[in-house]
Amino acid sequence: MRVLITGGAGFIGSHYVRRSLGGDHPEFADAEVVVLDKLTYAGNRENLRPVADDPRLRFVQGDICDAELVGELMRGVDLVVHFAAESHVDRSILGASDFVRTNVLGTDVLLQAALAAEVGKFVHVSTDEVYGSIDEGSWPEGDPLEPNSPYSAAKAGSDLLARAYFRTHGLPVCVTRCSNNYGPYQFPEKMLPLFITNLLDGRQVPLYGDGGNVRDWLHVTDHCRGIELVAGAGRPGEVYNIGGGTELTNRQLTDRLLAELGADESAVRHVEDRKGHDRRYSVDHAKISTELGYRPVVDFGEGLADTIRWYRENRAWWEPLKQAATISR
Ligand SMILES: NC(=O)c1ccc[n+]([C@@H]2O[C@H](COP(=O)([O-])OP(=O)(O)OC[C@H]3O[C@@H](n4cnc5c(N)ncnc54)[C@H](O)[C@@H]3O)[C@@H](O)[C@H]2O)c1
Repeated sequence: MRVLITGGAGFIGSHYVRRSLGGDHPEFADAEVVVLDKLTYAGNRENLRPVADDPRLRFVQGDICDAELVGELMRGVDLVVHFAAESHVDRSILGASDFVRTNVLGTDVLLQAALAAEVGKFVHVSTDEVYGSIDEGSWPEGDPLEPNSPYSAAKAGSDLLARAYFRTHGLPVCVTRCSNNYGPYQFPEKMLPLFITNLLDGRQVPLYGDGGNVRDWLHVTDHCRGIELVAGAGRPGEVYNIGGGTELTNRQLTDRLLAELGADESAVRHVEDRKGHDRRYSVDHAKISTELGYRPVVDFGEGLADTIRWYRENRAWWEPLKQAATISR
């Protein structure tokens, strides 16, 4: 089996690669895994270090918008798992062009190449943010997409393109829409690693607005497990929500982090709310559960403690990233 994984040097993509090559995946025993990643500020070869010497892995530094390169890499591919994206909402508010280019145009380049190469399955990794914001209840997959940030609008564009390639051309595409992920190797501009690393350094954490925004926190392992199920038995043309983590307001999450890291209220700095800040995300994940037997297994308390431990023990990974980061809160 030949697998092309885009964005495999990022947070979730690298987790997927490390898991796939990790041993308990017999279907990857003879696989050739090609990672295509541009290594933007968010991509990091260090994330693949645990599997760097695995002969099944080939790393290609390149852009998903490069049609010639993508065409070459796509030849003979059985499965594409497409993670590559510009992924940080705050950056998309400062400027959306990179988001439109990579998330929309880059996805189109991949879909075209996959069609030409007649790949067996194309899993497009989308996000719950494409639905917009919901005060009560949860979105099933058929709900309309009403994205509010330039990030989620660009993701919605790619999500709908993926669907269109199935409807128009019969390309066997599946789309996954997952809730907020947490875990090791997440770039320290996102809320959870930003807060953990600030607290480890005795610094304050910036809490947006009234802290009442609600997110469903799912461990990255559970997300990757859901993607594996969809890659294996997901029906072409279908969308699968992935969720079922732990719903918390940002204030509640902050309080848990303060308690875990031995800090108090003086460590919280209240900052002006993010523009267009979605109030709540919540996906209904009944479809993937009934059809594919998905269920989240990582307990939030344990997952959070493990994640904090990882950042405590891996300063050499995140300190240089924070020093070089061009965005901060
Ligand atoms: N993080 C979350 O909570 C979450 C939740 C649901 C869905 N998602 C989706 O999962 C995917 C991965 O998210 P993440 O958090 O790992 O993101 P990330 O920012 O950590 O990683 C993105 C990766 O894509 C690469 N990349 C960016 N532009 C590229 C280009 N033009 N060509 C090739 N590679 C490029 C980067 O170098 C990086 O390695 C994204 O599509 C995102 O929308 C993320």
